Amino acid sequence: MDRKQHWAYPLLTRPGLSRAQLLAHFQHEYAVYVRDFPVLLARALGQVPPVSDVRVSLAENLFEEQTGGLSRTAPHPELFLRMMEGLGFGRALFEDGATRLHENALLYRDWLFEESARGPWQAAVALLTIFVEGSVHERAELTGTFVRPHPAEAARRHPLVVHYGCPEEAMQLTRAHAAVEGGHRVDAWRIVASHVPERGEIEARIVSTCQRALGLWLAYRDGVAERMGLSREQAA
Ligand SMILES: [Fe+2]
Repeated sequence: MDRKQHWAYPLLTRPGLSRAQLLAHFQHEYAVYVRDFPVLLARALGQVPPVSDVRVSLAENLFEEQTGGLSRTAPHPELFLRMMEGLGFGRALFEDGATRLHENALLYRDWLFEESARGPWQAAVALLTIFVEGSVHERAELTGTFVRPHPAEAARRHPLVVHYGCPEEAMQLTRAHAAVEGGHRVDAWRIVASHVPERGEIEARIVSTCQRALGLWLAYRDGVAERMGLSREQAA
């Protein structure tokens, strides 16, 4: 997770991107993992044996992602589209076929679909709840040195609000994540750590799955940067 960092990321938090560049980024994010994340979780849950704490945790996560019921908001893919409307990007721009996705984006998305339903279940669960949902801040978050901003503060300081004119009211997704995601991070690591024997075959499968995910994700982000016309010099 320490390496889940892409060179173009700093450019996404600064002013200066064109509308077309922003749109290309968000169209990819939506199609690759935002729209179908609840379904990916459901696929992983579908292969979990009767281990109650794991099923409960995944079901809670799935419930929040597909309904927004814990944060009392709405389905997270819907919250994403509301955030896009706040930027002035209508829903039709996010429908299938509205844009041609980069081939690396399709490779990563298809692989996530396959892996989420492939055993061992611990590898699928780690892939989704640690790699996909987690960030480069994972280690700091678990040790308590990374403190999540308060939901309202997270929305107010978001680059889309500060630099790109998105109204704070449209940032429900950011608020929902700030409200519930901290608990998900702790749950994700607890589940994996408590149901995987150390130095065994399953641990090796988890590590190889997440390393493959990192490679495919970096290639995906390279593809999006290419579509946005970004260069490493700009990001330096
Ligand atoms: Fe979410």
